[in-house]
Amino acid sequence: MLPGVRGMVRETHLSPAHLVSPLFVIHGRDVKNPVSSMPGVFQLSVDLLVAEAKHTVSLGIPAVLLFGVPAAKDPQGTESFARDGIIQRAVAEIKSACPDLVVITDVCMCEYTDHGHCGILNTGGARRPVPSLPEDALLNDATLEVLERIAASHAEAGADIVAPSGMIDGMVRAVRGALDRAGHAHVPVMSYAVKYASAFYGPFREAAQGAPRFGDRRSHQMDPANAREALREAALDVEEGTDFLMVKPALPYLDVVRLLRERFPGHPLAAYNVSGEYAMLKAAAANGWLNERAAVLETLTCIRRAGADLVITYHAKEAARWLAE
Ligand code: PBG
Repeated sequence: MLPGVRGMVRETHLSPAHLVSPLFVIHGRDVKNPVSSMPGVFQLSVDLLVAEAKHTVSLGIPAVLLFGVPAAKDPQGTESFARDGIIQRAVAEIKSACPDLVVITDVCMCEYTDHGHCGILNTGGARRPVPSLPEDALLNDATLEVLERIAASHAEAGADIVAPSGMIDGMVRAVRGALDRAGHAHVPVMSYAVKYASAFYGPFREAAQGAPRFGDRRSHQMDPANAREALREAALDVEEGTDFLMVKPALPYLDVVRLLRERFPGHPLAAYNVSGEYAMLKAAAANGWLNERAAVLETLTCIRRAGADLVITYHAKEAARWLAE
């Protein structure tokens, strides 16, 4: 068979245009901190981040997803919405250097709170504690107020898409409303609609320095055993006005990607190939147990085959390079 015939009947295509590259930004100048559990991934200061953004554009990757490491953490996560916060500064600098690069920002509090949870806790931060709730309960409405400020501040700095990731009830409606009121009706929302309470986020928590100091996120992230619940979560976010849907992690949840693709044909769908998925492949490749290039391209192609329009992946740059060859 002529290779051209294989190409003609190929059902799924993978190109750099389908990839989103996640980046971690930290205060300082000329800082490039390796993340030990994610070889090839670094926390970068804004100056180096801008160079990285330019490189990303040169590879044909259309978008980056930014995560910030703040200078200081507190119970209210106040740097998350500060005008001169790490993300706000990074977005402004990237957009002025690379106006055509799509800058997506993670809208969550966990990297900014000293307790490491994704919102305002009943003690430890609440302005109006609720006596009937346990001390470590996450206060939904107080958290939504902060998420609104974060999203508006990101849009103000020039973010092209905001991605609320905390799975807080009502977060999409709150963020959408805040953007509209602040004059950013054109900024789309990419909701982490279906986010599982997964063991595969481990390396990310080193990269973003956002591990919970106590407890876990099982109260607001989904049980890996459930798929029908994913449809309900996604339907709620669609009703609240999300423009994009996302499934996270990707590989153990390709059936969920497929379900969402079929149930929500009108919504662009992203799958997040998370830190632990990246670390697994890197570790096996480093031991010579897998052919990295083949395994990465197969993985990303299969995530697309399951139904994802976009793949958010730490392999983005290498994959783009391989795809160009
Ligand atoms: C929350 C957030 C997390 C990830 C992306 N956004 C961590 C979590 O929910 O604990 C994980 C991504 C990855 O593992 O690559 N801000």
